[in-house]
Amino acid sequence: MSLKLKDILKDESNQGKIEHLPVFKLPEKLRKNEQIHGSVTVGLKAPHPNTTEHNIVWMSIYFLPEGADFPYQILRISYDAHGASVKGGDTSGIYSDAELCFTLRTATSGTLYCASYCNIHGLWNTSVPLILEDEEEKE
Ligand SMILES: [Fe+2]
Repeated sequence: MSLKLKDILKDESNQGKIEHLPVFKLPEKLRKNEQIHGSVTVGLKAPHPNTTEHNIVWMSIYFLPEGADFPYQILRISYDAHGASVKGGDTSGIYSDAELCFTLRTATSGTLYCASYCNIHGLWNTSVPLILEDEEEKE
């Protein structure tokens, strides 16, 4: 039996003691065609561990405009430093943490998605509505 991508994506129903869900932070007011400065971190109450053995490897953000057939990839970022050096794991003291900032402009409201990949616990995703203030006024 082969699983589809949707079958291996984890969400809030899979959340355990170690938090894996990407958490979006967006400005309160979002306006059509104006820059939206957002950020994402993994874990709401505590950041995900970042050690050579256990870490977030990458995150990707996608935007699905209302009425669109497919999402647009906004960014993809990899976290490549997890403490390893020639002396072994967790010896370098150098770590790239699973956080990111992004800037997006859109003429249409829609849904933002973030996927994050943990090297031990797999592929996680979260989504948030992105509602443009200008479009709310139209309704
Ligand atoms: Fe993990």
